Amino acid sequence: MDATAASAPAIPDPDANATNSQALIDALTAHVALVDRSATIVAVNRAWRQFADANGGCLPEHGIGQNYLALLDGMRRCSPHTAKEAEDAAIARRVAAGLRQVLSGDADCFRMEYPCDGPGEAHWFLLTITPLPHAGGLGAVVAHEDLTALKRAQDRALEHSAQLAASFSGTVNAIARFIEKRDPYTAGHQQQVARLCDAIARRLELPDERRQGLLLGASIHDIGKISVPLDILARPGRLSRPEHEIIRAHPQTGCEILEGIDFPWPIADMVHQHHERLDGSGYPQGLAGEAICLEARIICVADVFDAITSHRPYRAARSHAEGVDELLAGRGTRYDSTVVDALLAHLQAPATVAA
Ligand SMILES: [Fe+2]
Repeated sequence: MDATAASAPAIPDPDANATNSQALIDALTAHVALVDRSATIVAVNRAWRQFADANGGCLPEHGIGQNYLALLDGMRRCSPHTAKEAEDAAIARRVAAGLRQVLSGDADCFRMEYPCDGPGEAHWFLLTITPLPHAGGLGAVVAHEDLTALKRAQDRALEHSAQLAASFSGTVNAIARFIEKRDPYTAGHQQQVARLCDAIARRLELPDERRQGLLLGASIHDIGKISVPLDILARPGRLSRPEHEIIRAHPQTGCEILEGIDFPWPIADMVHQHHERLDGSGYPQGLAGEAICLEARIICVADVFDAITSHRPYRAARSHAEGVDELLAGRGTRYDSTVVDALLAHLQAPATVAA
């Protein structure tokens, strides 16, 4: 065997390189075209050819030899007669600008998502254009990745999520109506507390989804009172210690009623903790600080203010000023100062709160 011949470097085979490149891009699921520095299409992959054939095969040779920018410019020059044509022209304009940026070396990558309604069903694509060294210059890889299945799965997930949210709201509203039938006073109190919580949440700029959970929790926060006899709840006179203990059990009872429902929000915690106080002086667990969830700290402040300023069976309503005095007296000790400030700001200028 000739050792010299065996160790000589292999002579590059341009045909083999081209074959390898084609095999490489054919392995990709994205629809890929390679363009040279003038944007002429020099190769396309199998997925590109299959998609073109399935959608009418309008490009001879699947576009090989045609100029990509010229194709896009042709779409741009069409006078749009419909909103869809105008949208297509706008997409073509953006793609052409992105391709020019990559070919000129001004951008390392161009990406955009776009809809595509062919003769078949509607599709969504992610377009990625990246540089490709080619024949001593700079060409580009133009890849269209079909996102249609992903988009449809996202749409189904959103639809399912909206149905679940509506179902949870319906469950909570049914519970609230049940309470109202038995005890209109508690029902009215919960509605007012929910309104105040909504105003506080907006002031605190809570995300909409979290605010929605807070509203539901606030609107049934006293659900545990269904275990308290009505004559105790509505009695004008003083309560005995055992009767007082029955009322103080309502956060625990409410939590036990709700904890079996798998809400996407901590509704059972909100109900369980709404009589806890920041300094640990509340009940039933004596939680303190951030061990009390924010929603419960908000319900607590709204609950205290409404309890003071509303008529009770055993006493007349006191003034807003007295409610504010109590919140200020406990601000930062019993009550979360940020939450108190948000409620006071709302009470001073309720009209500025967005609907
Ligand atoms: Fe309560």
